Amino acid sequence: MILENSRYQLGGVDLLEVANEFGTPVYVYDADTIADKYQQINTAFSAVKLRIKFACKALSNLSVLRYMKSLGAGLDVVSIQEAMLGVKAGFEPKEIFFSPNGVSFDEICQGVGLGLAINIDNISILEQFGHKYGNTVPCSIRLNPHIVAGGNAHIQTGHIDSKFGISIYQMRHLTRVVASDNIKVVGLHLHTGSDILDASVFTKGADILFEAAKNFKDLEFVDFGSGFKVPYKEDDAVTDMAELGKELTPRFKTFCKSYGRELELWFEPGKYIVSEAGVFLVRTNVVKQTMATVFVGVESGQNHLTRPMYYNAYHEIVNISNPEGTKRVYTVVGYICETDTFGWDRKLNEVREGDILAFKNAGAYGFTMSNNYNSRLRPAEVFIYKGKAHLIRKHEPFDDLLRNQVEIKL
Ligand code: LLP
Repeated sequence: MILENSRYQLGGVDLLEVANEFGTPVYVYDADTIADKYQQINTAFSAVKLRIKFACKALSNLSVLRYMKSLGAGLDVVSIQEAMLGVKAGFEPKEIFFSPNGVSFDEICQGVGLGLAINIDNISILEQFGHKYGNTVPCSIRLNPHIVAGGNAHIQTGHIDSKFGISIYQMRHLTRVVASDNIKVVGLHLHTGSDILDASVFTKGADILFEAAKNFKDLEFVDFGSGFKVPYKEDDAVTDMAELGKELTPRFKTFCKSYGRELELWFEPGKYIVSEAGVFLVRTNVVKQTMATVFVGVESGQNHLTRPMYYNAYHEIVNISNPEGTKRVYTVVGYICETDTFGWDRKLNEVREGDILAFKNAGAYGFTMSNNYNSRLRPAEVFIYKGKAHLIRKHEPFDDLLRNQVEIKL
C-alpha cells in the first residue's frame, strides 16, 4: 500500500475507490506483490531443484489459487477440503502436498484416492498406511526436530510439547515401522512454526533433516516447511531470503552429493508470499471517548480478522480517508460482543465516523480464519490483477446463515 498524491493505492488501484465500489468490509490482494514475493524465493534458490508449495491455509480463494498455479507453484494443504479446492483451482493432484495433523486414517485414504502427495505426521497412521498400501503408494514423513524457533510462542510447532510431527528421537521405532511394511518414503518434512525470528533455525532444521535422511534410501525431496518472517511493524525483523538461499544452497548440495542423488528442495510458504500483498478495509462506525482512551469502533471485529485477538498479533492500521489529518492516539476495536481489540494506542490520522481504515499484512490468515460469530457475515474479497480490481468473493448473504439449519416443529 503506498500513498501517492494524498491517496492510498495498492497495485496501482485507489483503495477508497475499491471500498466504495465493492463495499466494506473487504479484503484486497495485489497480484503483483504476490508474484514478486514468489519470485524472491525462486531467485534465492535458483541453483537447486526448488518446488514452492503455497500454503493454502493462508489464503484459499480460488482465484488466488489459480494465480499461484499460473506462477508455477504447487500447493500445501492440511485438509481434504483444501485439497478439493486445489483441484478445482486447476492443480494436478500430484502437485498437492497433503500434510494434515490429527486427521483420521480415512481422510488420508481419501487423499490417496485423489492422487495427492501424502505426508504423515504420526506413527499410528503410518502403520495403518503401511498395512494398507505397503510400497505401492509413496509418502513422506513429518519430523519434529525439537528446535525452539523464537518469536510468537502461539505459532511455534517444533518444540517438545508440540503435537506436530514424529520426534527425531523416535527414529529407531520409525525405521522399524517403515521396514516392516516396506513403506516407500520419498520425502522428509519439517515445519518449526510461523513467523520465525531467528533464521539459524532453518539451517539447524536442515542439518537435522540431512542427518535423518541417512535412514531412508528412496528420498526424492526434502521439505523445510515455512515460517519465513514478514514485517508486521516498521522495524520488525524479516527473513532475508537471498541470504537464506546463500546459506542453505551449499549445505543442500553437499548433502545431495553424500546422499548420492540430486533431490528436490521444497518450501511451503504462506505468509511470505501473501501477507504483505493484502489489506483489509473497514468502515468506522463510531468514535467513542472514554475516561481511558478514544475508541474507534469499526464495522468488523474478531470474526473477520482474528489474529490480533488469537495471537496478540500486531497489524498496522492506517486511516486511508484522512491521510493529512492530525495524528491522534486511538484504540481500535471491533463490534463483536467480546473485547475484540485490534490495537491499543495507535497513532492514526484523525478518525471521523465513516472513515475507512486499512489493516496491513492482511493477505495471510485473514479471510481464511474468519467466522460467523455474533451471526455476522463474512467480508468480500477483491483481487487486483493487471491494474484492475476484480471481485473474487461477494459479501456473504444472510441466507448463508440459514442454509444448513434444519427447523423443527415446536
Ligand atoms: N507448512 C505447514 C506445515 C504449516 O503448518 C504452515 C502454517 C505453513 C507451512 C505456512 O506457514 P507460513 O509461511 O504462513 O508461516 N494462522 C497463523 C499461523 C499458524 C499457521 C499454521 N501453519 C497466523 O495467522 O500467524
